[in-house]
Amino acid sequence: MYISSLTIFALAIVTIHACNPGTDGCDHPGNFTGTLTALKDPAAAYCNPGNQTSIYASIPASFYNPPDESPCDAPINVTNPSTKKTIEAIVIGECTTCAGDNIQLTTAGLEALSPNGKANKAPTTVKWTFI
Ligand SMILES: *[C@@H]1O[C@H](CO)[C@@H](O)[C@H](O)[C@H]1NC(C)=O
Ligand SMILES: *[C@@H]1O[C@H](CO)[C@@H](O)[C@H](O)[C@H]1NC(C)=O
Ligand SMILES: *[C@@H]1O[C@H](CO)[C@@H](O)[C@H](O)[C@H]1NC(C)=O
Repeated sequence: MYISSLTIFALAIVTIHACNPGTDGCDHPGNFTGTLTALKDPAAAYCNPGNQTSIYASIPASFYNPPDESPCDAPINVTNPSTKKTIEAIVIGECTTCAGDNIQLTTAGLEALSPNGKANKAPTTVKWTFI
């Protein structure tokens, strides 16, 4: 009995964290693909001030409309399609210059996705999703 309750609890957690169409609490379901550029001024980010040494993201302004679906502080996972490496970033920015599903990451994020740890070798195209 104890084991099966635990199993159900674990399944419930997995369900809560999945961000797929129709899932309660998931305002922006799906997998997005866009170009990746640098988040240049995280201290002045729309949601909260950030810095280049933590992994933060700025995502297109379209995700902030309607306002009750604001993604401020939401965790996203960003994947380098070439290496399959995935990192988690916290959304702090509204990118008014990002077309489509293009996103920006702080230096720490660019370095983490780069095959050699250098920000200038970060992938130019990434896949990302809310988690
Ligand atoms: C997003 O991609 C993951 C992994 O490939 C997949 O399991 C999931 O179903 C996809 N979600 C949507 C909404 O397409
Ligand atoms: C960057 O932000 C994180 C999270 O708020 C904080 O823990 C860290 O100390 C900050 N780093 C610098 C250099 O300010
Ligand atoms: C998000 O990325 C983190 C770090 O790589 C990983 O541990 C976690 O399993 C990922 N979550 C999902 C839902 O893919």
